[in-house]
Amino acid sequence: MLKGERVGLRPLETEDAILLFKWFNDQRVLEDLGAEHIYFCVSLEEEKAFVEKMLLDRHSRFFIVTRLEGGKPLGLIGLANMDPRNAGCELRLVLGEVEEWGKGYGEEAVRILLRHAFDSLNMHRVWLRVADYNERALRLYRRCGFRDDGALRDDHFHKGGWCSARIMSLLESEWRSA
Ligand SMILES: CC(C)(COP(=O)(O)OP(=O)(O)OC[C@H]1O[C@@H](n2cnc3c(N)ncnc32)[C@H](O)[C@@H]1OP(=O)(O)O)[C@@H](O)C(=O)NCCC(=O)NCCS
Repeated sequence: MLKGERVGLRPLETEDAILLFKWFNDQRVLEDLGAEHIYFCVSLEEEKAFVEKMLLDRHSRFFIVTRLEGGKPLGLIGLANMDPRNAGCELRLVLGEVEEWGKGYGEEAVRILLRHAFDSLNMHRVWLRVADYNERALRLYRRCGFRDDGALRDDHFHKGGWCSARIMSLLESEWRSA
């Protein structure tokens, strides 16, 4: 378990499909995600297959964010598209327990994972993709030091229209000097 002050990150397991099934069927959780690979109304079987795929992908490492006190699972965080040659990876984050938003857990989870990426995995660049209208996530990522790389115009369909997203990134040197 990777530990912070209030939350920890433990490796994703097969049995967690039931948690993801709940989180990825909650409209409030999906609303601002803007992820091209998310389909609404996933079945438990699909979710199990999704988790197996994540577990078998050796270029990804996913974790369940848990509250240290009491062990409540809060969401999913991970590094995907890990590229050993160029020392880059994509950060992904979903807190599925909506009533736990706005308590600083998301920020703490990102900071724990960044420490792991830069200090243990020897990453040079951590990047992420975020929808332009996802204000809460944008503020969180900026607080953690991420900067805008570029725009993804009309990236995805959202609430009846085309919406843009952006790529943000954080370099190891920037993280160390912050
Ligand atoms: C986006 C998301 C990860 C944010 O997680 P979160 O835990 O609510 O984020 P935080 O609590 O760290 O930050 C949110 C607010 O809580 C505030 N906060 C409250 N208590 C806090 C504490 N003890 N410590 C730090 N911040 C605290 C922060 O200041 C922040 O305020 P702001 O948004 O006005 O700047 C979460 O809402 C989520 O998973 N949403 C759905 C999926 C999604 O959009 N994922 C991102 C895809 S790119």
